[in-house]
Amino acid sequence: MDGNGRWAKLRGKERVYGHFEGVESVRAVMEASVEWGIRYVSFFAFSEENWARPEQEVMTLMQLMLDAMVKELETFKKNGVRFRVLGNRERLSPELAGTIDRIEAETADGSVLTMILFLSYSGKWDIRQAARRMAAAGDDDIEPYLVTAGIPDPDLLIRTSGEKRISNYLLWQLAYTEFVFTDTLWPDFRKDSYRAALEEYASRDRRFGKVK
Ligand code: IPE
Ligand code: MG
Repeated sequence: MDGNGRWAKLRGKERVYGHFEGVESVRAVMEASVEWGIRYVSFFAFSEENWARPEQEVMTLMQLMLDAMVKELETFKKNGVRFRVLGNRERLSPELAGTIDRIEAETADGSVLTMILFLSYSGKWDIRQAARRMAAAGDDDIEPYLVTAGIPDPDLLIRTSGEKRISNYLLWQLAYTEFVFTDTLWPDFRKDSYRAALEEYASRDRRFGKVK
C-alpha cells in the first residue's frame, strides 16, 4: 500500500488524512476478496524501516490500525475472515499487541478468507529470525520458521503509487510471484483497480522456470 502521503498532499492536507482514506481501500479490497473467492489477501501496512518516520506519524498510524481492526472485528466474524498480523511483535505497544492477540483468537476459525496485515515487518528481518531458529533446532528447511509458515507464497503482488521496488517486503516468499505495478495511489485503489490488477494477473503465463 503506497501513496497515502502523496494523495493527501495533492489535496493540500496532512499525510495522516491519506492514511485514513487508505483504510477505506483496505476495506474495499477485503470485501472484494470475500466476494471473488480469494483465499488469502495480505497488506504491507508498516515496515521495520517505517519506524524511522516522524514520531507523530508513527503514533497516528499505530492508533489508526488499532482502531480499524477493532472496528472491523464484527465484519471479520460475519464474513468468515481470519485476521492475522505478521511482523516483529516486540516493537509494538502492549495495547496494540494485546488487541492483535484478541482479534486473532476471535477470528481463528474464519475459513473463507485469511487477511494478513504485515506490521513492523521486513523480509530481511524475517529471514534472519527464521535462520536463527532453524539453526538452533538443527534443521535445514527454512520455510517452517518464516512468519508465513503454513501460508502459501503469494501468486500476485500489487504495488501502488508508481514505485517499482520490493522495499524489503516478502523477500523469500516472492520467488515466483507475479508483479503488477500501478500508478494509482493507495487511497484511490478500490474495487475497480483491484479487478484490473487481477485481470492483468490472469493474462500472465506462469511457468515457474519450466517449459510448457
Ligand atoms: C503508504 O503510504 C503507507 C505506509 C507506508 C504506512 P506512504 O505514507 O508511503 O505515502 P507516500 O509514499 O509518502 O505518498
Ligand atoms: Mg511511500
